[in-house]
Amino acid sequence: MNEMSIPRPNNLDAFWMPYSDNKYFKDKPRMLARAKGMLYYTPEGREVLDGTAGLWCCNAGHGRTEITEAIQKQAAILDFAPTFQLAHPIAFEAAARIAELTPAGMDRVFFTNSGSESADTALKIALAYQKSIGQSQRVRLVGRERGYHGVGFGGMSVGGIGGNRKQFGAMLPYVDHLPHTHLPAKNAFTRGEPTHGADLADTLENLVALHGDTIAAVMVEPIAGSTGVLIPPKGYLQRLRDLCTKHGILLIFDEVITGFGRIGTDFGSERLGVTPDIITMAKGLTNAAVPMGAVACANFIYDAVVDGVANGIELFHGYTYSGHPLAAAAAIASMDIHARDDLPGRVRNIEKYWEDAAHQMRSAPNVIDVRNYGLIAGVELAPREGKPGSRAMDIFRRCFDAGVLIRVTGDIIALSPPLIIEPYHVDRIFEAVNDAIYKEAA
Ligand SMILES: Cc1ncc(COP(=O)(O)O)c(C=O)c1O
Repeated sequence: MNEMSIPRPNNLDAFWMPYSDNKYFKDKPRMLARAKGMLYYTPEGREVLDGTAGLWCCNAGHGRTEITEAIQKQAAILDFAPTFQLAHPIAFEAAARIAELTPAGMDRVFFTNSGSESADTALKIALAYQKSIGQSQRVRLVGRERGYHGVGFGGMSVGGIGGNRKQFGAMLPYVDHLPHTHLPAKNAFTRGEPTHGADLADTLENLVALHGDTIAAVMVEPIAGSTGVLIPPKGYLQRLRDLCTKHGILLIFDEVITGFGRIGTDFGSERLGVTPDIITMAKGLTNAAVPMGAVACANFIYDAVVDGVANGIELFHGYTYSGHPLAAAAAIASMDIHARDDLPGRVRNIEKYWEDAAHQMRSAPNVIDVRNYGLIAGVELAPREGKPGSRAMDIFRRCFDAGVLIRVTGDIIALSPPLIIEPYHVDRIFEAVNDAIYKEAA
């Protein structure tokens, strides 16, 4: 594409940018105008290597022709039809394709438009399920400190990131939290799952002792991404699974970032060897070409809710765009690429190279931890005195100016490239991060 044909905004005032330092950005804009494969391009045509798959979402790389064509074709056939009390065929096809990837016996799929909506939908389904089996007292939802489940009131309340909550008051009632599993004193510089911390799952017993049989569900990310890459300690998720089963609590895995190949299997639960009752997803589902999220439920949950009502609407929940035809087309095309190009297999082939490259950061100045799993890596930096987050933000800006997109959260660099990454891209990403870390420290 001719760079001259890319529109350049001359007014940055109107767009209130999400999760952004609006004043800084509008003073010093950094724009991305187009993308292909592993690369973004600025409006001036400068290449920026994508170390974050957009926002953990363009797993198959950018500008995949198959997805673009599927969306274009579908737009010409059916732009929109409701899915309340009637539907269109492609939504059923997309749901069935997702069910082929989710664990056995988890074949019922509810469509949303984002990870946040998927989190809130999963929590509502859990409450509806408990009610439908005669457990109406189970109204309590349990999350984990440092968890991120998006920005709806449900996900934000069950989530455990203080900064996301402090502007918004009291949150949902009847929510409690497990402790987070980040134990740098014991686990720093671990490759893969850390050794220490499985016993932190046992704190669910304390919550059960406190709240009795009022807990409906526990929701956690199998690998927490947005809070800065927290890999579950060995045995932790299994213990959580066992305790949920023991106490009649549903286990929800928020797989918005671990779904669709990121850690070397279709969903992360498979690689981590623990099957939840509900999986939330979004992002890689459509390769981010059209917004779409989904919630996959164990069949027994669907059966209980749907059979629990003699006739009429069974679940009083849904979005105008649940199963939107364009999103469904993008999802099917993305899952075609996922299968044909064996994206999970690509991750397993390159993850050792990725891990070695990440852990070379260990000796760089101010690096206090490196952690990784699949095609995810976190590089944690010592914060500057009195200015948390500013060191990593400085490194983010240096990397961008050097042509590599990274993501930072607090003082943690979180890397999650498209799954089509090649070794020379891995080298380029970590060279840029290394250079930026040294320059910042100089
Ligand atoms: C685990 C998890 N859940 C939910 C969300 C929210 O997704 P969205 O921004 O699409 O609402 C995210 C986004 O990063 C996420 O990482």
